[in-house]
Amino acid sequence: MWQYIDKSEKKVLITASLVSAGHLFLIAYAAIFLHLTVPTCQPNEKLFDKPDLRSVGDHRYEVHYLAKMWNFQPKKLTVPVGTTLDIFLGSQDVNHGFHINETNVNLMAVPGVVNKAVHTFNQPGVYHIVCHEYCGFGHQNMNAEIEVTDKVTLASMDQQESISGSGETLSEAAIAGKVIYQQKGCVGCHSLDGTTGAGPSFKGLWGRTEEMQDGQKILVDQAYLVESIKLPQARIVKGFGPIMPQIPLSDEEIAKVIEYIKTVK
Ligand code: CUA
Repeated sequence: MWQYIDKSEKKVLITASLVSAGHLFLIAYAAIFLHLTVPTCQPNEKLFDKPDLRSVGDHRYEVHYLAKMWNFQPKKLTVPVGTTLDIFLGSQDVNHGFHINETNVNLMAVPGVVNKAVHTFNQPGVYHIVCHEYCGFGHQNMNAEIEVTDKVTLASMDQQESISGSGETLSEAAIAGKVIYQQKGCVGCHSLDGTTGAGPSFKGLWGRTEEMQDGQKILVDQAYLVESIKLPQARIVKGFGPIMPQIPLSDEEIAKVIEYIKTVK
């Protein structure tokens, strides 16, 4: 049989066989020696609507990540070096991406299904998680992080379990307020991380006492914030200029923005 095959066809057959064998070898090598696992859909896994973290063995944790516009929960996870995470990912609204930098964990968060990947964190460091599927206005800010450290013990991991298990979620009003904050341009002058911009940062603003230009001290409460948004020139915080424009917002929208400000701690 072989002798009837044309020489050039033989070349093609041999080359194709070698390439296929090479691929199979690489797949086996990746699985056995590099311990690379393929992300899998978990058709039998129950859908969840809250983030969760639980111990399932020595240095092994199961974490439920919830993706939604526009954050991941838990937002921050701290684990000891050598921890293996069974990562379950669900979405509460639309399709999101989920890539843990410097690892090969790359998943999609798809509403209605749970996807899973496993990774062992052997190197200390901060691993950033980014959404890499365009999911709307806040897409570029959608991220989270996993801190892998040799300073944390399993005891503090258990404490964390009770914290992240409770799943700090923003209320509907606060989420709506966040969208207004981004869309109406508040974001341009009021940072969320304490950085001073053209206006005071929103970080820790709620409940703080601010000193005004005239030396008056005012508690940042509902009334003060409503006034500051409606009549930006009424009082000016010391160190800032009277430059905030009047943003046309309804009372309802203002209430939502304030709900959001309360969450920026
Ligand atoms: Cu979520 Cu992009």
